[in-house]
Amino acid sequence: MPQHPFSLSLLLLLLPLLWFYLFFISIAAQSKPTQPTCPSYNPCNGLNISYPFWRIDDNQTQYCGYQGFGINCYTINGEEHPIILFDQASYYVETIIHEFASIILVDYDVSPMVPVGNQCPSVRHNIDLQRLPLDFSSYNVNLTFHFNCTGVPEFASEIPCLDSGGRKSCVNVMSSELQDFDWGIYSCGEEVLKTVLNANLPDGDRIGTDFGGVLSRGFELRWRSMEDCGKCEESNGRCAYNDITTKFMCFCSDGSTTTVDCKKGTFNSSFPHLSNLLVDFISWGA
Ligand SMILES: *[C@@H]1O[C@H](CO)[C@@H](O)[C@H](O)[C@H]1NC(C)=O
Ligand SMILES: *[C@@H]1O[C@H](CO)[C@@H](O)[C@H](O)[C@H]1NC(C)=O
Ligand SMILES: *[C@@H]1O[C@H](CO)[C@@H](O)[C@H](O)[C@H]1NC(C)=O
Ligand SMILES: *[C@@H]1O[C@H](CO)[C@@H](O)[C@H](O)[C@H]1NC(C)=O
Ligand SMILES: *[C@@H]1O[C@H](CO)[C@@H](O)[C@H](O)[C@H]1NC(C)=O
Repeated sequence: MPQHPFSLSLLLLLLPLLWFYLFFISIAAQSKPTQPTCPSYNPCNGLNISYPFWRIDDNQTQYCGYQGFGINCYTINGEEHPIILFDQASYYVETIIHEFASIILVDYDVSPMVPVGNQCPSVRHNIDLQRLPLDFSSYNVNLTFHFNCTGVPEFASEIPCLDSGGRKSCVNVMSSELQDFDWGIYSCGEEVLKTVLNANLPDGDRIGTDFGGVLSRGFELRWRSMEDCGKCEESNGRCAYNDITTKFMCFCSDGSTTTVDCKKGTFNSSFPHLSNLLVDFISWGA
């Protein structure tokens, strides 16, 4: 391959440019603001709390993570309990699997953390996810509980431990065929829907006696990117929130904070052009 006559002199010409380029990059890197960063993880009794979840601490004014995804770490009897609240109901956080954007939760009342009452726990509230970016996973099924009924339909499983004054309670796995069933004929007191993991259902009719154990193994939610956070995450940022300013923030990996995403700044728009130019010149010269 014949040498281009100008290649050496061109390279010498470009060397100072290259030097300036590297110099400015190092300046930019050094002058990065020391903004808050996202903790890579925060342990609570073996649970790794990490983005988009965050650990709720005292006197915290801003956090890195999604609104509503804060996890309390209460110490009860010397043991840490990771608890998340949805609509004022407490859920024990069993597992977080980032790979699948999956979180396994257990109603706190029936969780292994509450040693009493698992045999015949009271089943009180439906879960309300409000507008959080969480969905029930397809590994769940829904159980419907009916209390204080005059009888128990064939498809449901009676709950002997909840019989009260001749009134019966029962549970059944929800299905589309049963959606329209008229419970009116049994004059039940109330209906509560509970989501559980399908794999934990017992065989046959035992759900009426084993429901406490099934509930205590929880259910799965999958999280998705929070609204308004997409642009920040796509630019490798982490969404954050300030309680005092009530402002959304995007924490960038270089330590800076923006209100939209991490693509902003002259660094991005001007320097890459120079480096492209350099590459063009050198390949042209060789
Ligand atoms: C939590 O994360 C840290 C750091 O990534 C890791 O060393 C540790 O094994 C994790 N613990 C669990 C229980 O996953
Ligand atoms: C939080 O604030 C209260 C009162 O302002 C103070 O007594 C307490 O020590 C603070 N806690 C932490 C962890 O800073
Ligand atoms: C269970 O109920 C919830 C509402 O509480 C619903 O969003 C979900 O799709 C139901 N899951 C199944 C498997 O029917
Ligand atoms: C059934 O009804 C009785 C009397 O009205 C009430 O005390 C009890 O709490 C009810 N049981 C359930 C499980 O709702
Ligand atoms: C920064 O660069 C990315 C792609 O490298 C581009 O999409 C974005 O528009 C640039 N931002 C600015 C402010 O020029």
